[in-house]
Amino acid sequence: ANYASMSKLKIFVTRSDFPKKSISFLEEKYDVDIWDSIKNGDISKKDFLSRVPGASGIFCSLNDKVDKDVVEAAGPSLKVVSTMSVGVDHVDREALKAKGIRLGYTPDVLTEATAELTLALLLATSRRLFEANRAIKDGEWTSPWAPLWMCGPALKGSTVGIFGFGRIGQSVARKLKAFEVSRILYGSAQEKPEGKQIGAVQVSLEELLRESDFVIVTCALSDRTRGLFNKEKFAQMKSTAIFINSSRGAVVNQEALYDALVSGTIRAAGLDVMTPEPLPKDHPLLGLSNFVLPHIGSATYQTRMVMADLVAKNIVAALTNEKMPAELAL
Ligand code: DGY
Repeated sequence: ANYASMSKLKIFVTRSDFPKKSISFLEEKYDVDIWDSIKNGDISKKDFLSRVPGASGIFCSLNDKVDKDVVEAAGPSLKVVSTMSVGVDHVDREALKAKGIRLGYTPDVLTEATAELTLALLLATSRRLFEANRAIKDGEWTSPWAPLWMCGPALKGSTVGIFGFGRIGQSVARKLKAFEVSRILYGSAQEKPEGKQIGAVQVSLEELLRESDFVIVTCALSDRTRGLFNKEKFAQMKSTAIFINSSRGAVVNQEALYDALVSGTIRAAGLDVMTPEPLPKDHPLLGLSNFVLPHIGSATYQTRMVMADLVAKNIVAALTNEKMPAELAL
């Protein structure tokens, strides 16, 4: 390496399939070290620790736990961690704060895509699209039409409860208006002014669970929400309730959910997120007539390109001591 390249700051990128444009943007300015995830698979903790030393910035995704060990291994050069996600539960924020490392993330740009997919989960689960599609492939479509075959509950006129009324929850509520639901309830630590505009009412979690035909979870994963949806919570829901989760799998006690579905405590679940991810192919949850997806909430081409762009811009701004376009205050 010549002097010029030696003097460039190093950015460590945890995967090789991030949108190319955003990586090239960084390559113009920095010495970019990319883990070849296409050839070697997702980076292990061991490889992360051995590749990160000397990095000034880390470009990562929610697959990569950025914990104390990673921060220590990176050393004093590390100034910014920039994740291609709005969720930051994979990042040890205290460890970053202690060293004055800034955190970039991707709020706003994925709100609509994630809300759209949440609606897709809701419709697919209530109208049993996955089951119906499987039935036709399995040769179960034997009469041209049957009065009650593959029926599900209507969205129109229903009560929908949204737990976590941030950007995504509010967007889901706005979109739900078009379906003429009768009531939108939300659970949130604070009353949100947007609630009034949308016509959604803040209620206790207890009331939300008791009243809702559809329970939608769009909260962040935190110490307060980890494992929140447990046996007791499912028991509080209507036996006809449909449970939708597009936030993080860990807000749900998955065994309790499985039991609730098998025993008929609730009707069905639509999940974009679960634990672990990826969920093993033979996992009991997959044996049920639910709708499960492999964490694709924000997966529109447009959104993923803008997310990656934001990750790169967050890095450049932090390393030039400028205002980051999306910094999470630690
Ligand atoms: C996020 O951004 O946190 C989503 O889970 C993935 O886009």
